[in-house]
Amino acid sequence: MQSSYHQVYASWKSDPEAFWRDASRAIVWFKEPQQIFSPSQGAYGRWFADGETNTCYNCLDRHVLAGRGTETAIIFDSAMSGAKARFSYEEALAEVQAIAATFQAFGIGKGDRVIIYMPMVPEAIFSMLACARIGAIHSVVFGGFAANELAARIDDSGAKLVVTASCGLEPGRVVAYKPLVDQAIAAAKSKPAHCLVLQRPQLTAELVPGRDHAFQEAVALHHGRSIPCVAVKAIDPLYILYTSGTTGQPKGVVRDNGGHMVALHWSMANIYAMKPGEVFWAASDIGWVVGHSYIVYAPLLAGVATVIFEGKPVGTPDAGAFWRVICEYDVRVLFTAPTAFRAIRREDADGEFVRHYSKPHFRALFLAGERADPETLKWAEKMLKVPVIDHWWQTETGWPIAANPLGLGELPVKHGSASVPVPGYEIQVLDDAGHQVPPGTLGNIVAKLPLPPGCLPTLWEADERFRSAYLEEFPGYYKTADAGYVDDDGYLFIMSRTDDIINCAGHRLSTGAMEEVCAKHPDVAECAVVGIADPLKGQVPCGFLVLKKNVTRAKATIEAEVVKLIRDQIGPVAAFKTAVVVERLPKTRSGKILRGTMQKIADGEPWKMPATIDDPAILHEITDALRSKGFGSLPM
Ligand code: COA
Ligand code: AMP
Repeated sequence: MQSSYHQVYASWKSDPEAFWRDASRAIVWFKEPQQIFSPSQGAYGRWFADGETNTCYNCLDRHVLAGRGTETAIIFDSAMSGAKARFSYEEALAEVQAIAATFQAFGIGKGDRVIIYMPMVPEAIFSMLACARIGAIHSVVFGGFAANELAARIDDSGAKLVVTASCGLEPGRVVAYKPLVDQAIAAAKSKPAHCLVLQRPQLTAELVPGRDHAFQEAVALHHGRSIPCVAVKAIDPLYILYTSGTTGQPKGVVRDNGGHMVALHWSMANIYAMKPGEVFWAASDIGWVVGHSYIVYAPLLAGVATVIFEGKPVGTPDAGAFWRVICEYDVRVLFTAPTAFRAIRREDADGEFVRHYSKPHFRALFLAGERADPETLKWAEKMLKVPVIDHWWQTETGWPIAANPLGLGELPVKHGSASVPVPGYEIQVLDDAGHQVPPGTLGNIVAKLPLPPGCLPTLWEADERFRSAYLEEFPGYYKTADAGYVDDDGYLFIMSRTDDIINCAGHRLSTGAMEEVCAKHPDVAECAVVGIADPLKGQVPCGFLVLKKNVTRAKATIEAEVVKLIRDQIGPVAAFKTAVVVERLPKTRSGKILRGTMQKIADGEPWKMPATIDDPAILHEITDALRSKGFGSLPM
């Protein structure tokens, strides 16, 4: 099929409001928007400001009313416990209504915040949709975060209710969630009044009388209830999703209802080429934006069945897990992070598992979350013999900024490129002074304002932080904080972040936040955390510690304590396993830590002595310290 991408992109560019008005017709509105774009509202304008709707209605009720109630909406498969279940739209709707009634019984209503800290189980998705149904705002927290991170999110959102489970299941261990919730609530300044705990068969959590309630029992009281969808404004928040910023204080990305639905619905057909009734699988976690958009909302909005998978690409039980799921449920399109494919390739280089499972209808693999390295991409193409599409997006945008839009007809693939800007985004590459750079030149990637529907309008109760973090540096543009270049054909190459965020196993982590935690260790005077290359996870953090004078304890003990501190304070997801005590940190004469050079040394890449360095001997000390840990390189 000849690609219509260029025509569609041109039609968007010539009249964005007409383009999004057309797209908005795919959504059921309780009050149809007359204003498509309101430039004077919000930090850069708002989409569909006078429209009213409900996201849960569009995900479930509308399909039931259209006669599709008995079709499969949600497929649950736990490679950890062996549990499997299917829910039709009707069944999902009944579950969601009972949970919505339970939330209401706990005093939750429109605009109230609910924290969802749960593993990959259907009740997590039902709880998200139940919030949407009654106009409450959910904030899902990834299970791999520690109590401290959970407390920060409880406080920032001012949540009245926490929905959790007794445990998550990780290979080789049962992760007790409830003690983490208890610690987080104890640490939080703003205390949620209630906590609903899903008791899983693998572990029973203790409940605090009065505050905690067993999820199953509480919800059972409301089975069979009919709870109407509350009309919300298109611009009312649907959820807050916290993501790493440059400090320990995470950024609360706000997503609205109307624009979000319009953008996601458009993307399902035009980017992912999905049709109602087919099965789509985003192998991610609902704690991340990919999970919000493409496990939960986009497939259900489009009437596409979605898979909730509790497991890993390898080890649960083997590197065939993904192909088993695709084969068993006739998955048409898979979306995951390149790190998952690196893990599979490492264990199944010759593709024996890939061939073992038949997947005649499997159409495409989409990769995002980190740069898809060309070797992994080529391996996936060779093994799967379907288009393998690297596409680029962020928690902030909620849907792809650049992609090869399969639904519009595939464009030629260029390995290493996230393809072309999606209609809605005008992307430019600027130098630090804000001037556009020629094709092929590396620079700051920015999106011309306004951002399209679906993107964040602001940060939760932090309009000023939103402006200063994203809009100030390049007036008239949204700063993506990614660096890269555009080639002569308009293909985008996303190369690195321009801030201190690193990408570890497709997870976004702030080295600044890790430095704040390292600095809390009583023996640490100064520290720096950099991301170093890792063949599986892309990058992993490595901490450099300078000890206070007169500290005589063994360096190895302090290093191990700092590793534990990060696990306890940020969580296992930080994958912080390496800390190195050094005498001093390399700095410029003006006092800036030379993180880039330290990273190159650790990666074993050639590096040059920076002209501005205060004392060149320090880099040799760092090199020696790293070599004692098994990595590091010598200067050119
Ligand atoms: N609850 C509690 N702990 C969790 C968790 C959860 N929901 N998810 C991860 N963890 C823990 C893991 O058990 C691990 O702990 P460990 O240090 O004791 O081993 C740690 O957090 C790091 O987890 P993870 O990043 O998943 O690494 P891994 O080594 O277990 O697995 C991959 C590596 C590549 C297989 C895995 O990261 C993966 O499947 N990635 C897919 C990418 C993805 O989902 N990206 C999201 C955006 S698309
Ligand atoms: P997150 O907000 O967790 O989705 O992470 C967003 C960041 O991940 C982006 O700013 C990029 O740095 C990185 N990223 C996501 N997708 C890609 C991609 N396809 N290529 C390169 N980097 C990517």
